[in-house]
Amino acid sequence: MKVLVIGGGAREHALCRSLSLDPDVTALHCAPGNAGIAEVAELHPVDALDGAAVARLATGLEAELVVVGPEAPLVAGVADAVRAAGIPCFGPSEEAALLEGSKAFAKDVMAAAGVPTARSYVCTTHEEIDEALDAFGAPYVVKDDGLAAGKGVVVTDDVEQARAHARSCDRVVIEEYLDGPEVSLFAITDGTTVLPLTPAQDFKRALDDDQGPNTGGMGAYSPLPWADPKLVDEVMASVLQPTVDELRRRGTPFQGLLYAGLAITSRGVRVIEFNARFGDPETQVVLARLRTPLARVLLHAANGTLDSEPPLTWHDDAAVTVVVASHNYPDTPRTGDPIEGLDEVAAKDAPHAYVLHAGTRRDGDAVVSAGGRVLSVTATGKDLAEARERAYAAVGRIRLDGSHHRTDIARKAAGE
Ligand code: AMP
Ligand code: GLY
Repeated sequence: MKVLVIGGGAREHALCRSLSLDPDVTALHCAPGNAGIAEVAELHPVDALDGAAVARLATGLEAELVVVGPEAPLVAGVADAVRAAGIPCFGPSEEAALLEGSKAFAKDVMAAAGVPTARSYVCTTHEEIDEALDAFGAPYVVKDDGLAAGKGVVVTDDVEQARAHARSCDRVVIEEYLDGPEVSLFAITDGTTVLPLTPAQDFKRALDDDQGPNTGGMGAYSPLPWADPKLVDEVMASVLQPTVDELRRRGTPFQGLLYAGLAITSRGVRVIEFNARFGDPETQVVLARLRTPLARVLLHAANGTLDSEPPLTWHDDAAVTVVVASHNYPDTPRTGDPIEGLDEVAAKDAPHAYVLHAGTRRDGDAVVSAGGRVLSVTATGKDLAEARERAYAAVGRIRLDGSHHRTDIARKAAGE
Protein backbone atom coordinates (compact mmCIF):
# COMPACT_ATOMS: atom_id res chain seq x y z
CA MET A 1 0.00 0.00 0.00
CA LYS A 2 1.30 3.48 -0.93
CA VAL A 3 0.51 5.90 1.88
CA LEU A 4 0.70 9.70 2.06
CA VAL A 5 0.56 11.39 5.46
CA ILE A 6 -0.30 15.10 5.62
CA GLY A 7 1.26 17.16 8.40
CA GLY A 8 4.63 17.66 9.99
CA GLY A 9 4.49 17.35 13.77
CA ALA A 10 5.35 14.69 16.32
CA ARG A 11 1.96 13.06 15.77
CA GLU A 12 2.76 12.64 12.08
CA HIS A 13 6.23 11.36 12.96
CA ALA A 14 4.61 8.76 15.26
CA LEU A 15 2.14 7.82 12.51
CA CYS A 16 4.92 7.57 9.92
CA ARG A 17 7.09 5.53 12.28
CA SER A 18 4.29 2.99 12.82
CA LEU A 19 3.44 2.92 9.11
CA SER A 20 7.11 2.45 8.20
CA LEU A 21 7.19 -0.67 10.41
CA ASP A 22 4.02 -2.07 8.81
CA PRO A 23 4.80 -4.75 6.17
CA ASP A 24 1.66 -3.73 4.21
CA VAL A 25 3.18 -0.33 3.46
CA THR A 26 5.28 -0.40 0.29
CA ALA A 27 5.86 3.35 -0.05
CA LEU A 28 5.56 6.07 2.57
CA HIS A 29 5.29 9.77 1.77
CA CYS A 30 4.75 12.75 4.02
CA ALA A 31 3.96 16.37 3.21
CA PRO A 32 5.33 18.68 4.38
CA GLY A 33 6.97 16.54 7.12
CA ASN A 34 9.96 17.57 9.21
CA ALA A 35 13.63 16.65 9.70
CA GLY A 36 12.81 13.49 11.67
CA ILE A 37 10.05 12.22 9.39
CA ALA A 38 12.54 12.49 6.52
CA GLU A 39 14.30 9.45 7.98
CA VAL A 40 11.27 7.18 7.51
CA ALA A 41 9.27 8.77 4.68
CA GLU A 42 9.88 10.66 1.46
CA LEU A 43 9.01 14.32 2.00
CA HIS A 44 7.14 16.61 -0.38
CA PRO A 45 6.46 20.30 -0.01
CA VAL A 46 2.76 21.16 0.08
CA ASP A 47 0.43 23.74 1.54
CA ALA A 48 -1.44 21.33 3.84
CA LEU A 49 -4.46 23.66 3.89
CA ASP A 50 -4.86 23.55 0.11
CA GLY A 51 -7.14 20.59 -0.67
CA ALA A 52 -6.58 20.77 -4.43
CA ALA A 53 -2.79 20.75 -3.93
CA VAL A 54 -2.95 17.79 -1.53
CA ALA A 55 -5.24 15.86 -3.91
CA ARG A 56 -2.86 16.60 -6.82
CA LEU A 57 0.11 15.38 -4.81
CA ALA A 58 -1.72 12.20 -3.74
CA THR A 59 -2.76 11.50 -7.34
CA GLY A 60 0.78 12.08 -8.62
CA LEU A 61 2.20 9.69 -6.01
CA GLU A 62 -0.50 7.10 -6.82
CA ALA A 63 -1.29 7.05 -3.11
CA GLU A 64 -3.73 4.34 -2.07
CA LEU A 65 -4.38 5.93 1.31
CA VAL A 66 -4.04 9.51 2.53
CA VAL A 67 -3.93 10.19 6.27
CA VAL A 68 -4.61 13.80 7.27
CA GLY A 69 -2.97 14.48 10.63
CA PRO A 70 -3.71 18.00 11.93
CA GLU A 71 -7.03 19.70 12.56
CA ALA A 72 -6.55 22.78 10.39
CA PRO A 73 -6.55 20.89 7.04
CA LEU A 74 -9.48 18.75 8.19
CA VAL A 75 -11.52 21.81 9.13
CA ALA A 76 -10.51 23.30 5.76
CA GLY A 77 -11.99 20.28 3.91
CA VAL A 78 -8.76 18.70 2.70
CA ALA A 79 -10.08 15.16 3.31
CA ASP A 80 -13.09 15.96 1.08
CA ALA A 81 -10.80 17.11 -1.73
CA VAL A 82 -8.77 13.90 -1.53
CA ARG A 83 -11.90 11.72 -1.54
CA ALA A 84 -13.29 13.71 -4.48
CA ALA A 85 -10.15 12.71 -6.38
CA GLY A 86 -11.10 9.06 -5.78
CA ILE A 87 -8.44 8.31 -3.18
CA PRO A 88 -9.34 6.72 0.18
CA CYS A 89 -8.66 9.23 2.93
CA PHE A 90 -8.46 8.74 6.69
CA GLY A 91 -9.89 11.91 8.17
CA PRO A 92 -13.31 13.47 8.63
CA SER A 93 -15.09 15.74 6.18
CA GLU A 94 -15.14 19.49 6.71
CA GLU A 95 -18.64 19.19 8.15
CA ALA A 96 -17.81 16.37 10.59
CA ALA A 97 -14.53 18.05 11.63
CA LEU A 98 -16.67 20.86 13.07
CA LEU A 99 -16.83 18.59 16.10
CA GLU A 100 -13.40 20.03 16.82
CA GLY A 101 -13.67 23.25 14.82
CA SER A 102 -16.58 24.62 16.85
CA LYS A 103 -17.08 23.96 20.54
CA ALA A 104 -20.68 25.16 20.22
CA PHE A 105 -21.34 22.58 17.48
CA ALA A 106 -19.78 19.86 19.65
CA LYS A 107 -22.07 20.83 22.53
CA ASP A 108 -25.08 20.65 20.22
CA VAL A 109 -24.13 17.16 19.00
CA MET A 110 -23.57 15.97 22.58
CA ALA A 111 -26.93 17.33 23.70
CA ALA A 112 -28.69 15.54 20.83
CA ALA A 113 -26.81 12.29 21.46
CA GLY A 114 -27.25 12.35 25.24
CA VAL A 115 -23.48 12.43 25.79
CA PRO A 116 -22.47 13.63 29.28
CA THR A 117 -20.54 16.92 29.26
CA ALA A 118 -20.17 20.13 31.27
CA ARG A 119 -23.25 22.37 31.31
CA SER A 120 -22.50 25.43 29.19
CA TYR A 121 -23.66 28.67 27.62
CA VAL A 122 -22.68 29.96 24.20
CA CYS A 123 -22.24 33.75 24.46
CA THR A 124 -21.70 36.55 21.96
CA THR A 125 -22.49 39.70 24.00
CA HIS A 126 -21.01 41.24 27.14
CA GLU A 127 -24.33 40.74 28.95
CA GLU A 128 -24.46 37.04 28.09
CA ILE A 129 -20.84 36.64 29.20
CA ASP A 130 -21.49 38.27 32.59
CA GLU A 131 -24.63 36.21 33.16
CA ALA A 132 -22.84 32.95 32.35
CA LEU A 133 -19.86 33.77 34.59
CA ASP A 134 -22.25 34.61 37.41
CA ALA A 135 -24.29 31.47 36.89
CA PHE A 136 -21.33 29.09 37.25
CA GLY A 137 -19.04 31.00 39.63
CA ALA A 138 -15.34 30.16 40.13
CA PRO A 139 -13.35 28.36 38.85
CA TYR A 140 -14.33 29.88 35.51
CA VAL A 141 -13.94 27.90 32.27
CA VAL A 142 -13.92 30.12 29.17
CA LYS A 143 -13.43 28.64 25.70
CA ASP A 144 -12.98 30.39 22.39
CA ASP A 145 -15.54 28.77 20.05
CA GLY A 146 -13.08 28.31 17.18
CA LEU A 147 -9.80 26.45 16.64
CA ALA A 148 -7.03 27.81 18.87
CA ALA A 149 -4.30 25.12 18.94
CA GLY A 150 -5.02 24.24 22.56
CA LYS A 151 -4.64 27.84 23.67
CA GLY A 152 -8.21 29.10 23.45
CA VAL A 153 -9.20 27.84 26.88
CA VAL A 154 -8.78 29.81 30.09
CA VAL A 155 -9.49 28.16 33.44
CA THR A 156 -9.15 30.66 36.27
CA ASP A 157 -10.48 31.79 39.65
CA ASP A 158 -10.04 35.40 38.57
CA VAL A 159 -13.30 36.74 37.20
CA GLU A 160 -11.58 39.70 35.51
CA GLN A 161 -9.25 37.38 33.61
CA ALA A 162 -12.19 35.16 32.67
CA ARG A 163 -14.18 38.17 31.45
CA ALA A 164 -11.25 39.61 29.49
CA HIS A 165 -10.67 36.31 27.66
CA ALA A 166 -14.39 35.88 26.96
CA ARG A 167 -14.63 39.40 25.52
CA SER A 168 -11.62 38.79 23.26
CA CYS A 169 -13.50 35.95 21.49
CA ASP A 170 -16.12 36.45 18.76
CA ARG A 171 -18.15 33.62 20.17
CA VAL A 172 -17.35 31.98 23.46
CA VAL A 173 -18.44 28.90 25.39
CA ILE A 174 -18.59 29.38 29.16
CA GLU A 175 -19.05 26.19 31.10
CA GLU A 176 -19.20 24.41 34.40
CA TYR A 177 -15.86 23.46 35.95
CA LEU A 178 -15.20 19.72 35.88
CA ASP A 179 -13.18 18.29 38.72
CA GLY A 180 -11.22 15.06 38.45
CA PRO A 181 -8.42 13.49 36.42
CA GLU A 182 -8.39 13.82 32.64
CA VAL A 183 -8.18 10.95 30.19
CA SER A 184 -7.81 10.99 26.42
CA LEU A 185 -9.49 8.14 24.61
CA PHE A 186 -9.20 7.84 20.84
CA ALA A 187 -11.35 5.78 18.53
CA ILE A 188 -10.94 4.90 14.87
CA THR A 189 -14.26 4.96 13.05
CA ASP A 190 -15.64 4.61 9.54
CA GLY A 191 -18.79 6.51 10.49
CA THR A 192 -20.61 3.42 11.79
CA THR A 193 -18.23 0.96 13.42
CA VAL A 194 -16.10 2.31 16.25
CA LEU A 195 -12.78 0.77 17.37
CA PRO A 196 -11.46 2.25 20.61
CA LEU A 197 -7.73 2.68 21.16
CA THR A 198 -6.08 2.51 24.58
CA PRO A 199 -6.50 5.41 27.05
CA ALA A 200 -3.71 7.89 27.66
CA GLN A 201 -3.20 10.96 29.80
CA ASP A 202 -1.55 14.14 28.65
CA PHE A 203 -0.14 17.09 30.57
CA LYS A 204 -1.49 20.38 29.26
CA ARG A 205 0.19 22.92 31.52
CA ALA A 206 3.66 24.20 30.67
CA LEU A 207 5.29 23.64 34.06
CA ASP A 208 5.68 20.85 36.63
CA ASP A 209 2.79 20.18 39.02
CA ASP A 210 0.33 21.52 36.45
CA GLN A 211 1.48 25.10 36.86
CA GLY A 212 1.84 27.71 34.13
CA PRO A 213 -0.18 28.34 31.00
CA ASN A 214 -2.08 25.79 28.90
CA THR A 215 -0.12 24.37 25.98
CA GLY A 216 -0.73 21.94 23.14
CA GLY A 217 0.58 19.21 25.51
CA MET A 218 3.91 18.71 27.29
CA GLY A 219 3.94 14.92 27.69
CA ALA A 220 1.80 11.81 27.94
CA TYR A 221 1.74 8.22 29.15
CA SER A 222 -0.20 5.01 28.70
CA PRO A 223 -1.59 2.78 30.18
CA LEU A 224 -3.36 4.41 33.13
CA PRO A 225 -2.84 2.06 36.08
CA TRP A 226 -5.27 4.07 38.22
CA ALA A 227 -8.18 3.96 35.77
CA ASP A 228 -11.19 1.67 36.06
CA PRO A 229 -10.65 -1.31 33.69
CA LYS A 230 -14.24 -0.79 32.48
CA LEU A 231 -13.50 2.79 31.41
CA VAL A 232 -13.12 2.03 27.69
CA ASP A 233 -16.38 0.06 27.53
CA GLU A 234 -18.19 2.77 29.43
CA VAL A 235 -16.90 5.58 27.19
CA MET A 236 -17.68 3.52 24.09
CA ALA A 237 -21.29 3.14 25.22
CA SER A 238 -21.89 6.62 26.64
CA VAL A 239 -19.73 8.82 24.41
CA LEU A 240 -18.03 7.40 21.31
CA GLN A 241 -20.76 5.28 19.71
CA PRO A 242 -23.60 7.77 20.39
CA THR A 243 -21.54 10.64 18.94
CA VAL A 244 -20.66 8.68 15.79
CA ASP A 245 -24.32 7.60 15.45
CA GLU A 246 -25.57 11.18 15.84
CA LEU A 247 -23.25 12.53 13.14
CA ARG A 248 -24.32 9.77 10.78
CA ARG A 249 -27.98 10.54 11.55
CA ARG A 250 -27.33 14.18 10.60
CA GLY A 251 -26.02 13.08 7.21
CA THR A 252 -22.44 14.06 8.06
CA PRO A 253 -20.80 10.79 9.11
CA PHE A 254 -17.56 11.11 11.02
CA GLN A 255 -14.85 8.98 9.47
CA GLY A 256 -11.36 9.11 10.93
CA LEU A 257 -10.04 9.53 14.45
CA LEU A 258 -12.47 10.66 17.10
CA TYR A 259 -10.66 11.98 20.16
CA ALA A 260 -12.59 12.24 23.40
CA GLY A 261 -10.99 14.41 26.09
CA LEU A 262 -12.67 13.26 29.29
CA ALA A 263 -12.85 14.28 32.93
CA ILE A 264 -13.42 11.47 35.41
CA THR A 265 -15.57 13.38 37.91
CA SER A 266 -17.16 12.15 41.12
CA ARG A 267 -20.46 12.12 39.20
CA GLY A 268 -19.08 10.05 36.34
CA VAL A 269 -17.32 10.56 33.02
CA ARG A 270 -17.84 13.91 31.27
CA VAL A 271 -16.58 15.04 27.87
CA ILE A 272 -14.28 18.08 28.08
CA GLU A 273 -13.74 18.30 24.35
CA PHE A 274 -13.73 16.39 21.11
CA ASN A 275 -10.98 16.53 18.57
CA ALA A 276 -11.24 15.28 15.02
CA ARG A 277 -7.73 13.83 14.75
CA PHE A 278 -5.06 11.96 16.67
CA GLY A 279 -4.06 13.91 19.79
CA ASP A 280 -0.55 15.16 20.27
CA PRO A 281 1.37 14.00 22.41
CA GLU A 282 -0.96 11.10 23.35
CA THR A 283 -0.57 9.53 19.89
CA GLN A 284 3.12 9.05 20.54
CA VAL A 285 2.43 6.74 23.51
CA VAL A 286 -0.71 5.08 22.14
CA LEU A 287 1.00 4.08 18.88
CA ALA A 288 4.10 2.94 20.79
CA ARG A 289 1.84 0.34 22.43
CA LEU A 290 -0.21 -0.68 19.37
CA ARG A 291 0.51 -4.21 18.21
CA THR A 292 -1.97 -4.35 15.28
CA PRO A 293 -0.37 -3.09 12.05
CA LEU A 294 -1.81 0.36 11.43
CA ALA A 295 -2.22 0.79 7.66
CA ARG A 296 -4.95 -1.80 7.13
CA VAL A 297 -7.03 -0.42 10.00
CA LEU A 298 -6.84 3.13 8.66
CA LEU A 299 -7.71 1.90 5.16
CA HIS A 300 -10.74 -0.01 6.46
CA ALA A 301 -11.90 3.15 8.23
CA ALA A 302 -11.42 5.18 5.04
CA ASN A 303 -13.34 2.60 2.98
CA GLY A 304 -16.24 2.07 5.38
CA THR A 305 -15.30 -1.57 6.05
CA LEU A 306 -14.11 -1.34 9.64
CA ASP A 307 -16.61 -4.03 10.71
CA SER A 308 -14.29 -6.60 9.10
CA GLU A 309 -11.44 -5.59 11.42
CA PRO A 310 -10.92 -7.52 14.69
CA PRO A 311 -10.38 -5.52 17.91
CA LEU A 312 -6.99 -3.81 18.14
CA THR A 313 -4.30 -5.53 20.20
CA TRP A 314 -1.74 -3.91 22.49
CA HIS A 315 1.70 -4.54 23.91
CA ASP A 316 1.90 -4.96 27.68
CA ASP A 317 4.70 -2.38 27.72
CA ALA A 318 4.07 1.06 29.14
CA ALA A 319 4.99 4.19 27.17
CA VAL A 320 5.96 7.71 28.20
CA THR A 321 6.64 10.75 26.03
CA VAL A 322 8.25 14.00 27.15
CA VAL A 323 7.97 17.12 25.01
CA VAL A 324 11.03 19.35 24.66
CA ALA A 325 9.79 22.88 23.92
CA SER A 326 11.64 25.93 22.66
CA HIS A 327 12.59 28.97 24.62
CA ASN A 328 9.49 31.00 25.49
CA TYR A 329 6.87 28.38 24.42
CA PRO A 330 3.84 28.62 24.64
CA ASP A 331 4.33 32.37 24.07
CA THR A 332 6.04 33.31 20.80
CA PRO A 333 8.72 30.60 20.69
CA ARG A 334 12.27 31.21 19.56
CA THR A 335 13.22 29.06 16.56
CA GLY A 336 16.36 28.36 14.53
CA ASP A 337 18.41 26.97 17.45
CA PRO A 338 20.58 23.95 16.65
CA ILE A 339 19.58 20.64 18.27
CA GLU A 340 22.40 18.35 19.38
CA GLY A 341 22.46 14.87 20.87
CA LEU A 342 20.00 13.20 18.48
CA ASP A 343 22.68 10.73 17.30
CA GLU A 344 23.53 9.86 20.89
CA VAL A 345 19.92 8.92 21.60
CA ALA A 346 19.85 6.77 18.46
CA ALA A 347 23.13 5.10 19.45
CA LYS A 348 22.50 4.59 23.18
CA ASP A 349 18.76 4.46 23.80
CA ALA A 350 17.18 2.79 20.76
CA PRO A 351 14.98 0.85 20.39
CA HIS A 352 13.41 1.53 23.80
CA ALA A 353 13.68 5.29 23.53
CA TYR A 354 13.56 7.40 20.42
CA VAL A 355 12.99 10.98 19.35
CA LEU A 356 9.91 12.00 17.44
CA HIS A 357 10.32 15.39 15.78
CA ALA A 358 7.67 18.06 16.17
CA GLY A 359 8.99 21.47 15.08
CA THR A 360 12.33 20.79 13.41
CA ARG A 361 13.95 21.36 10.04
CA ARG A 362 17.27 20.69 8.41
CA ASP A 363 19.70 23.54 7.99
CA GLY A 364 22.68 22.17 6.07
CA ASP A 365 24.08 19.39 8.23
CA ALA A 366 22.33 20.61 11.35
CA VAL A 367 18.82 19.98 12.65
CA VAL A 368 17.35 23.20 14.06
CA SER A 369 14.21 24.08 15.98
CA ALA A 370 11.31 25.31 13.87
CA GLY A 371 8.36 25.51 16.27
CA GLY A 372 7.17 25.72 19.86
CA ARG A 373 7.12 22.03 20.62
CA VAL A 374 10.38 20.79 19.11
CA LEU A 375 10.76 17.12 20.03
CA SER A 376 8.70 14.41 21.68
CA VAL A 377 11.07 11.97 23.33
CA THR A 378 9.26 8.65 23.61
CA ALA A 379 10.18 5.50 25.50
CA THR A 380 8.71 2.13 26.36
CA GLY A 381 9.40 -0.14 29.33
CA LYS A 382 7.97 -3.00 31.35
CA ASP A 383 6.16 -0.42 33.48
CA LEU A 384 5.74 3.35 33.66
CA ALA A 385 8.74 3.73 35.97
CA GLU A 386 11.07 2.09 33.47
CA ALA A 387 9.55 3.96 30.51
CA ARG A 388 9.94 7.23 32.43
CA GLU A 389 13.53 6.51 33.31
CA ARG A 390 14.38 5.74 29.69
CA ALA A 391 12.53 8.79 28.36
CA TYR A 392 14.30 11.17 30.73
CA ALA A 393 17.70 9.54 30.09
CA ALA A 394 17.20 10.31 26.40
CA VAL A 395 15.94 13.85 27.11
CA GLY A 396 19.14 14.39 29.10
CA ARG A 397 21.28 13.78 26.02
CA ILE A 398 19.54 16.46 23.97
CA ARG A 399 20.97 19.94 23.86
CA LEU A 400 18.79 22.80 22.65
CA ASP A 401 19.60 26.25 23.92
CA GLY A 402 16.84 27.77 26.05
CA SER A 403 14.60 24.71 25.81
CA HIS A 404 12.38 23.48 28.62
CA HIS A 405 10.46 20.31 29.48
CA ARG A 406 8.41 19.01 32.37
CA THR A 407 10.16 16.64 34.77
CA ASP A 408 7.01 15.09 36.23
CA ILE A 409 5.43 13.30 33.24
CA ALA A 410 3.83 10.05 34.53
CA ARG A 411 5.56 10.47 37.91
CA LYS A 412 2.42 10.09 40.00
CA ALA A 413 1.04 7.26 37.85
CA ALA A 414 4.37 5.43 38.20
CA GLY A 415 3.97 5.63 41.97
CA GLU A 416 7.04 7.84 42.45
P1 AMP B 1 -9.81 21.93 25.81
O1 AMP B 1 -9.10 22.72 24.74
O2 AMP B 1 -11.29 22.05 25.76
O3 AMP B 1 -9.29 20.55 25.93
O4 AMP B 1 -9.34 22.55 27.20
C1 AMP B 1 -7.98 22.59 27.57
C2 AMP B 1 -7.85 22.21 29.01
O5 AMP B 1 -8.59 23.09 29.83
C3 AMP B 1 -8.40 20.83 29.35
O6 AMP B 1 -7.52 19.81 29.08
C4 AMP B 1 -8.67 20.99 30.82
O7 AMP B 1 -7.48 20.83 31.55
C5 AMP B 1 -9.14 22.40 30.93
N1 AMP B 1 -10.60 22.40 30.87
C6 AMP B 1 -11.39 22.51 29.79
N2 AMP B 1 -12.69 22.46 30.10
C7 AMP B 1 -12.75 22.29 31.43
C8 AMP B 1 -13.82 22.18 32.37
N3 AMP B 1 -15.10 22.24 32.00
N4 AMP B 1 -13.50 22.02 33.67
C9 AMP B 1 -12.22 21.96 34.07
N5 AMP B 1 -11.16 22.08 33.24
C10 AMP B 1 -11.42 22.25 31.94
N1 GLY C 1 -3.20 16.55 23.52
C1 GLY C 1 -4.14 17.54 23.23
C2 GLY C 1 -4.49 17.68 21.83
O1 GLY C 1 -4.01 17.00 20.95
O2 GLY C 1 -5.32 18.53 21.56
